[in-house]
Amino acid sequence: MASTLEQLSSMTVVVADTGDLDAIRTFKPRDATTNPSLILGAAQSSKYQHLIDQSLKVSRERLGPDATSDEIVQEALDEICVIFGKEILQIIPGRVSTEVDARLSFDIEATIAKAKKLIGLYNKSGISNDRVLIKIASTWEGIKAAEELEKEGIHCNLTLLFSFYQAAACAEAGVTLISPFVGRILDWYKTATGRESYPGNEDPGVISVTKIFNYFKFNGYKTEVMGASFRNIDEIKELAGCDLLTISPKLLDELQKTNSPLPRKLDANKPVNIQESINLDKTSFELLMAGDRMATDKLDEGIKGFSKAIVTLENQLEERLKIIEENIRVAVSGS
Ligand code: E4P
Repeated sequence: MASTLEQLSSMTVVVADTGDLDAIRTFKPRDATTNPSLILGAAQSSKYQHLIDQSLKVSRERLGPDATSDEIVQEALDEICVIFGKEILQIIPGRVSTEVDARLSFDIEATIAKAKKLIGLYNKSGISNDRVLIKIASTWEGIKAAEELEKEGIHCNLTLLFSFYQAAACAEAGVTLISPFVGRILDWYKTATGRESYPGNEDPGVISVTKIFNYFKFNGYKTEVMGASFRNIDEIKELAGCDLLTISPKLLDELQKTNSPLPRKLDANKPVNIQESINLDKTSFELLMAGDRMATDKLDEGIKGFSKAIVTLENQLEERLKIIEENIRVAVSGS
């Protein structure tokens, strides 16, 4: 019998959720997703030190000798995300997701500007918009920014999505893809209830993605649904048939090593538990979010967590810049 991973791939686009290029080479997914924590994880590995150095070198060349260290680090922060994205695109045939700085999550204009900057860096390297998804947190401001970007042909992946209402607003905004989270919802429920585990079909994260998927298909929305943030392979198996699922290398490996029959759970042609389409404005969106403690907590925590990862990456870039430029000074003064 084919492995669970092969069976899953026959009904769902399997995406690698990692910044680790070797893992992407191993699993050969069509698409890949990154986020600030994943980029930080990869950037801290000595095997990708040369990419950090490259981002600093390119940034210094672009901004010139008079630019301050802080300016170079800020430039390198964008550059490193795109450098990893470009490396990933050399391995996969499909799209890579690159995330906008989470600290801009409540600023529509700044999000649009950053997204354009990132896509501009890709375009300069000959990579077209259809190979990149700009990842943006699913705040009201993030969704509105994505709506504008989509009108200009920049495709977006709306992330940190924990509630049906965030998904409904994304669909109305015409975004290309959403990443409804599964595992982080499970984490919240486990903490809130004290329950130690949930079987796959009772997992609140699985129930959330299932509802969103059926709602999108029943109402004919084109927005693709990519389940994300998995804690175990039961969650993944319960979503077989979803448009896409983005999965960590550890769980991809587990799926490859198991081979029990995998029935389809979601079917775009037969949506169930249907609900008519809803249209939200900022006030109703915010009211509904305020009434959903889990989604509010997790969105807030997610933005803070990704922002913290970015600050750590900034510090790492700053340290490395000092070392590189000191080495250059010593070499020049010694020659
Ligand atoms: C992918 O788009 C998400 O950023 C990722 O799946 C989050 O996973 P985590 O909840 O394990 O951090």
